[in-house]
Amino acid sequence: MSASLAGRRVLVTAGPTYEDLDPVRFLGNRSSGKMGFAVAAAAVAAGAEVVLVAGPVHLSTPDGVQRIDARSAAQMHAAVLGALPADVYVGAAAVADFTPAGVATSKIKKRPGEDGLSLQLVRTRDILAEVAAHAARPRLVVGFAAETDDVDANARLKLAAKGADLIAANRVGLAGSGFEGDENTLVVHDAAGSRQLGPASKSAVATALVALIAGRLV
Ligand code: CTP
Repeated sequence: MSASLAGRRVLVTAGPTYEDLDPVRFLGNRSSGKMGFAVAAAAVAAGAEVVLVAGPVHLSTPDGVQRIDARSAAQMHAAVLGALPADVYVGAAAVADFTPAGVATSKIKKRPGEDGLSLQLVRTRDILAEVAAHAARPRLVVGFAAETDDVDANARLKLAAKGADLIAANRVGLAGSGFEGDENTLVVHDAAGSRQLGPASKSAVATALVALIAGRLV
C-alpha cells in the first residue's frame, strides 16, 4: 500500500501566469495547468488538505481542493506566501520569469513610421526559491522544470539553485509530453539521483509523484 498524505497540507501551483502590458494585451505561456491540477487531485485522493493556486486556466477545480486564482506572477507569489504554512509545496506553475516594467493604462498604439517596439521587462520574484528559503519552509519542496534541451542537466542545476528537494523535469515541445496534452513523462531528480514517471496519463503520473512525495514524509 502506498503512503498516505492524511493530515498533511499540500500547496500546489498550476498553470501559466499572464503579465499585463496594457488593458488588452499580456505576455503568457503555453502551460495548460493540467499537470498541477492532476497533482492536486492526486493529493486529495491520498488524503491531504490541498490548496491549489491556479493561474488563468480553463479547468474545473478537482473535488475537495481549495482553489485560489491568481493572474500574474506577483499575484501568484502573494497567494502562495499567504497560504503557508504547508507540509508540501509543489510548484507546477509556469511562472513568468519576466514581467513588463510598467503596465500602460491605455492601449499601446502603433505610430506612423514606427517599425518596431521594444518592451522593457524586469525579473519576477522566484516563488519556488522563496518558499524553499522561507522561515516556514514546507518539509518537502518540489519544483518543476520545463525544458526543451539538456533536460536532466538543467533540472539538476535548478535543484541546487532553488533549494528544492525534488525537481520534476518535463521535456516540452515533444508529442506525448509537456504542456498541452493529457500524457506526460517526468524525470524526478533529488540530490541522490533520478527516477522516471511515465509515459502515462497526467493523472497516473501525478498519482506516482504524490506516492513518491508521501514516501518522503514517512
Ligand atoms: N518558478 C517560480 N517563480 C518564478 C519562476 C519559476 O516559482 N518566478 C518555479 C516554477 O513554478 C517551477 C520552477 O520554478 O517549479 C521552474 O524554474 P525556472 O527556472 O523558472 O524554469 P524555466 O522557466 O524553465 O526557467 P529557465 O529560463 O531558467 O530555464
